[in-house]
Amino acid sequence: MKEQLEQLITDAVGQLKADGILPTDQTVKIQLDRPRDKSHGDFASNLALMLAKPAKMNPRQLAEKVIAAIPANTLIAKTDIAGPGFINFTIAQDQLKGQLTAMLSSADLGVQAADNPKTIVIDYSSPNLAKEMHVGHLRSAIIGDAVSRTAEMLGHTVIRQNHVGDWGTQFGMLLAHMEELDSEAANYELSNLETFYKAAKKRFDESEDFAERARELVVKLQSGDDYCLKLWNQFIDVSLTHCQEVYDRLGVKLTRDDVMAESAYNDRLPGVIEHLKEQGLLVEDQGAQCVFLDEFKGKEGEPLPIIVQKKGGGYLYATTDLAAIQYRQKELGGDYLMYFVDARQSLHFEQIFTLARKAKFIEGDIETQHYGFGTVMGKDGRPYKSRDGGVTKLADLLDEAERRALELLQQKNSDLTAEQQEAVAKVVGISSVKYADLSKNRTSDYIFDWDLMLTFEGNTAPYLLYAFTRVNSIFDKLGERSFDMDADWLLEDERELALANQLVRFEEVVNRVFDKAMPHFLCGYLFELAGYFSSFYEACPILNQEDEAVRNSRLKLARLTANTLEKGLSLLGIPTLEKM
Ligand code: ARG
Repeated sequence: MKEQLEQLITDAVGQLKADGILPTDQTVKIQLDRPRDKSHGDFASNLALMLAKPAKMNPRQLAEKVIAAIPANTLIAKTDIAGPGFINFTIAQDQLKGQLTAMLSSADLGVQAADNPKTIVIDYSSPNLAKEMHVGHLRSAIIGDAVSRTAEMLGHTVIRQNHVGDWGTQFGMLLAHMEELDSEAANYELSNLETFYKAAKKRFDESEDFAERARELVVKLQSGDDYCLKLWNQFIDVSLTHCQEVYDRLGVKLTRDDVMAESAYNDRLPGVIEHLKEQGLLVEDQGAQCVFLDEFKGKEGEPLPIIVQKKGGGYLYATTDLAAIQYRQKELGGDYLMYFVDARQSLHFEQIFTLARKAKFIEGDIETQHYGFGTVMGKDGRPYKSRDGGVTKLADLLDEAERRALELLQQKNSDLTAEQQEAVAKVVGISSVKYADLSKNRTSDYIFDWDLMLTFEGNTAPYLLYAFTRVNSIFDKLGERSFDMDADWLLEDERELALANQLVRFEEVVNRVFDKAMPHFLCGYLFELAGYFSSFYEACPILNQEDEAVRNSRLKLARLTANTLEKGLSLLGIPTLEKM
């Protein structure tokens, strides 16, 4: 609907240009907002205010001209000019009803596939494998997954890339520690990666011989020594298995097949250096190979190097990312590369993108974008820590979520058996953690607060999951009685109309989530949808509605609400429950 309206306004602007009211070379950006106040119609545009100057007209006058130039159509029921010259549009009810019908009859809720589907390579999660996944790994996995699902729904081809760190200097230390233990002890210690890492670090710090051996082992590993590779493989396998357990629990779609580890680029790294040299971009600085780009300067205006090879010959994070970006375009065929990585790496990505283009690692019409995110904070306003002050392991965090969800459910009257309740608690617990993250603006830090996420009040997972079961229960109660899915929509009550208007916004919201890579828009939308449904359900009887035509229409609204909640939550990677 929004698109159709945009098209009509674009046509009107074209007409005004043809009529000499607007300069023909005037660029026009049409912006349509959803007014908060329903009496202002369904969409509002500030177009006349923006174009008053070039048209040399007062905005209200120009607004009249715009309205007059809109081609005949069945979309718009009414236009008004408000305040200094806003144009308010009210959409015809027939359009609304047509849209509702289209949504109800399609598995994708009538969401149109993108006009130009892309191959999108999405880098997300990408933890370092030396340690166990911790709370800092939550956001990339959850947000990246939601955006990937949304992109797929819009008809794009998504290639997931889990760029795990498995090749850094830390691995020397881990291998040295593995070597010291006999295989039984090693297996035992590896069952807790966190402890293993700590033990290795302790050895590294206390013994110079150990540290020396560790450094030796990394060099050997990186040059492909069989013995080192064998130890290393054993470690990586344990670590990746652990990651997979976390993804499966979180309902994050990543699998082993999506892993494209740093080590996988090892053989390409000398080529990266060679290529930079050929392009005349390489500069030696204190023995290290660097690139200096004019775009990047330090605080004092001093040149800022991108180091691609260390003095001893070792390669760096940036070198691998250059190899990876090239691979993503040239071998995976990506035309849009998305990176969901902590905002603190934004300079790194700016440098990589700029250098990759300059050095032609990527070429032509390709979009690259780093989508950063803020930090998960504790209530004390510092990065979230476990009770003992250490980093919180993700596995422990999820255990706690499930435990707390069970407590929450036990406080509530429910006809679930203890066993069912436990299964429901798993979904509620994990969903609460995910939803708390997804519902915050991606770019800001947020405070991790159990009490605010595990409650049936407010914009939370329990609230939405419960809302879904409520809508569903209508159909349970309907039992054998059938209803006519082809019945007419009757939207007489203002609450029916408000609900219908919210339902048809779904497509717009899904597009916004993808365009901005911001799932919180969808959370806000679903929360509002549940609110509109509640008001409707309280005011408009359904099951004991005598008038069959009205009952049918209301049942259809309820069905579509359930479908929309379910689809919306699934885009966030949250499953629905039949009962709670
Ligand atoms: N492993 C890195 C870290 O934990 C994140 C990798 C992100 N992706 C990339 N292509 N650099 O900080």
